[in-house]
Amino acid sequence: MSTYKITVEPLGRELDCRADQSILEACLRAGVWLPHACTHGTCGTCKAEVLDGDVDHGDASAFALMEFERDEGKTLLCCAKPRGDVVIEGDVDIEDGVTVHPVADFVGTVAVIEDCALDTRRLLIDLDREIAFNPGQYVSIEVPGHGVTRTYSMATPPSEPRRIELQIRRTPGGLASDGWIFKDLSVGDEVHLSGPYGRFFYREARDEPAVLIAGGTGLAPIKSMIRHVLENGMERELVLYQGARTREMLYDVGVFRALEAQHPDRFRYRPCLSEEQADGYESGLVTDVLDRDLATCRGYVGYVCGPPPMVEAAMKTLMAKRLFPRDIYREDFFDESDKASGGVRSPLLKR
Ligand SMILES: Cc1cc2nc3c(=O)[nH]c(=O)nc-3n(C[C@H](O)[C@H](O)[C@H](O)COP(=O)(O)OP(=O)(O)OC[C@H]3O[C@@H](n4cnc5c(N)ncnc54)[C@H](O)[C@@H]3O)c2cc1C
Ligand code: FES
Repeated sequence: MSTYKITVEPLGRELDCRADQSILEACLRAGVWLPHACTHGTCGTCKAEVLDGDVDHGDASAFALMEFERDEGKTLLCCAKPRGDVVIEGDVDIEDGVTVHPVADFVGTVAVIEDCALDTRRLLIDLDREIAFNPGQYVSIEVPGHGVTRTYSMATPPSEPRRIELQIRRTPGGLASDGWIFKDLSVGDEVHLSGPYGRFFYREARDEPAVLIAGGTGLAPIKSMIRHVLENGMERELVLYQGARTREMLYDVGVFRALEAQHPDRFRYRPCLSEEQADGYESGLVTDVLDRDLATCRGYVGYVCGPPPMVEAAMKTLMAKRLFPRDIYREDFFDESDKASGGVRSPLLKR
C-alpha cells in the first residue's frame, strides 16, 4: 500500500498517510488534533481546504460536502484519502486546558452484555491495554465481515481505562446493532476498535454550572462526564435531564439517584418521561421539563447528546434560555440514514 506525505498548515507539520487511510485518521494517530465529530462524512465538522495535491473524497455525504465546495478545493478530512502528497489548511487551534490523546488501535474482549432497557444493550469490554481519553469521547468499532466501522461513546470515566462501558440502541435493519450486537455478539468475543475520537467532552477549564441533556443512549458520554466530575471532587454543579418515552426505555435511574443522594450540593437528577406519568419522574420531553425548571440558562454551560432531532430541539430551548452556541457542546448520534438525507443540520454549517 502506498504512503503519502500530508503537510498540515499552518503548523507546517508533516506526517505519513496510507492511500487507504483518511487524512483525519492519519493526523489523529500522529497526535495532530483537527476538529471532527461523526468521522463518517455526515456532519461537516472536519471540512478543510486542500492547498496542494489531490484527494479522493471517498464516502463524503453530498449534503455535508456540496459540489461547489469540492470545486473550491474543500474536502471532509474524515473521508478524504490522498492520491499523492497533499497539503491541507487545518483548524489546528486547541482550546485551553484540553489534552489531546492520540488515536490508537485496541483489541477488546466482551466481558458483559446486559439488556438495560427496551432495545438498549450495555456492553462492558476489556481492552488489551489502557485507553487515555477525555470524558465524553467515543470509540470506533469494526463490524466483523463488513469492512465498516460504527462509533459508540464510552460511558465510563477516564479513571477506568482498561474496561469500557458502551450503551447501544438497536436500530431496526442496522448493520452493527440489529445485525451483530443484538444478534450474535457474545461474552468472550474479540472486538477490534480504535479511539479516542470526538470533541464532545467535558471542558474542565469551564467552571460554570452545567446543564446536561441526554436522549436515549445519548446518556453514555454524559454518564462518563458526570462520573468524572463527581468522582474527582471537582467543585462544579451539574444538573442532568435524561429523557425517554416510558420507564422501560429509561435506564441507569438507580445509578443517578444514588449519585444525587451522595452529592446533593453538586448533582441534580431529572428523569423525564414523555409518554407515561409515574411518581418520581418528570412528565414531558426533556426540553419541556427544562423549560419549566429554569427561568434562564444564562451562566450555565450546556452539554447535549442523543438523536439529531432531540439535539436540535434542546439547542433551541437552551438558546431561547439565553445560552450562546459557544456555551453549548453537542453530539448528534448520526447514522447512515442521516448521511443519505443530510440529517437535520444545514449542510453549509461548519461546526
Ligand atoms: C459520534 C457518535 C457517537 C455515537 N455513539 C452512540 C452510542 O453511544 N450509542 C448508540 O446507540 N449509538 C451511538 N451512535 C450511533 C451509532 O454510531 C450507529 O450509527 C447506530 O448504532 C446505527 O448503526 P447500525 O450499523 O446499527 O445501523 P446502520 O447500518 O448505520 O443503519 C442505520 C439506519 O440507516 C438506514 N440506512 C442504512 N444505509 C442507508 C442508506 N444508504 N440510505 C438510507 N438509509 C440507510 C438503515 O436501514 C437504518 O435504519 C453514535 C453516533 C455518532 C456519530
Ligand atoms: S467528522 Fe467528518 S463529516 Fe463529520
